[in-house]
Amino acid sequence: MKRRFAFSTAPAPDIVLACDRADLLARYRQRFELPPGTIYLDGNSLGALSTDARERLHRVACVEWGESLIESWNAHDWISAPERVGAKVARLIGARADEVLVCDSTSVNLFKLVRAALDLRPDRSVVLSEPGNFATDLYVIEGAIAGDASRTLRLEPRERVLDAIDGHTALVVLTHVHYKSAAMHDLRAITDRAHEHGALVLWDLSHSAGAVELDLDAAAADMAVGCGYKYLNGGPGAPAFLYLNRAHHATALSPLRGWMGHARPFAFVDHYEPAPGMRGGGRCHRATSSYGLGSRSWQWRPDAR
Ligand SMILES: Cc1ncc(COP(=O)(O)O)c(C=O)c1O
Repeated sequence: MKRRFAFSTAPAPDIVLACDRADLLARYRQRFELPPGTIYLDGNSLGALSTDARERLHRVACVEWGESLIESWNAHDWISAPERVGAKVARLIGARADEVLVCDSTSVNLFKLVRAALDLRPDRSVVLSEPGNFATDLYVIEGAIAGDASRTLRLEPRERVLDAIDGHTALVVLTHVHYKSAAMHDLRAITDRAHEHGALVLWDLSHSAGAVELDLDAAAADMAVGCGYKYLNGGPGAPAFLYLNRAHHATALSPLRGWMGHARPFAFVDHYEPAPGMRGGGRCHRATSSYGLGSRSWQWRPDAR
């Protein structure tokens, strides 16, 4: 049973304690290591350290890296971490396992997907977003269309976004849960409207993933990104995630062509040939030890429902 509490004034202590008792996630508190007496409300910026992550970090550094050295890429399967950890994030955002990669930063993933989306809609001029969207989203769009006179960034207030989508719209880029106000866009309605007009939608889920229910596949979402270090508790420097609907796997191509996105990365040939599916569409570099950090907590959350 889900219960919601709303207060206009500070609640009495017995109500607060009742909320704690009713909280389905309360038992997970024991799995985080906070300094005594700390009430930590900054998980929207940097999630707290979990015991699992601390143990995993120690294992990756001291056992895997320290003892297995270069063999760890295969022995401990570091090489497939973007896909393997991506499959765990997929469960949190309502995606299929092969639609999510964990790699790079949110800003870099935004850039890759904005460019890939524009290449899928070459005859359309407008990238639509809202004023006050998280700064990096707007800056990345500006950078992605810089030098391309056929494209413009149009900013419409959130209540006008739906009506602003039309036949000129190539791509809508919105942060699902707003980083300041926590206002939530209707992901399904905006995605539906975009599709009715032949446009694509790229969702920034940095403040949604791990915090609110998401079902990207049910909404037929096109693309999404999100941070690994906020509600996913991946720790400082944790890679971000990138979602690309299967419908776009055969056609979307990352503008950043790293060797790990190549169909035969170890052939070391001189020309790029994209790997089929998600790897060619999204991946450009390989894993680091930070993949280990969040990966444990990214598999608990669905059990908490
Ligand atoms: C909504 C949103 N998008 C993107 C980012 C940028 O992430 P990064 O700096 O890791 O690329 C942030 C960072 O706080 C964010 O809150």
